Amino acid sequence: MARKDVKLEHLAKTWLFSNCSSRELSKIARASDEITVPPGKVLCEEGKPGREFFWIVSGTAAVKRHGRKIATLGPGQYFGEMALLDRLPRSASVVSETEMDLLVLSQAAFNGVLDTVPQMSRKLLAAMAERLREADRKALH
Ligand code: CMP
Repeated sequence: MARKDVKLEHLAKTWLFSNCSSRELSKIARASDEITVPPGKVLCEEGKPGREFFWIVSGTAAVKRHGRKIATLGPGQYFGEMALLDRLPRSASVVSETEMDLLVLSQAAFNGVLDTVPQMSRKLLAAMAERLREADRKALH
């Protein structure tokens, strides 16, 4: 199978893109780069400007705030959207725990996808609401 088709197949399977049409999926695939990183790679650095959105194909990453691990992210999950949306510094550091395959979207590509693939914008908003509820729950306990 061609590399492009493998990428499209991955995208079609993930919840974030599952309602997208094949045209929209091709658009996302064209706009993204595939990278592989070793364990221990700092992908987002807390307090620093952010220029990329990451979607996890395989492997896991730790989300750390002030050096403390606050979450683990794995296949089908994503990170790095916050700084791209509000243009503020990264809210946390994200470091690979294993070798990881990632799809990376630049700020421009991310904006382009949000503008042209409304399904994805809606799902990102729903996921953000869920993270906020989770953070509130934790703050109360
Ligand atoms: P951003 O702030 O751009 O860079 C760090 C990323 O870590 C952030 O976007 C989110 O994608 C992710 N992140 C921050 N806080 C949490 C959390 N509590 N749970 C899961 N992921 C988080």
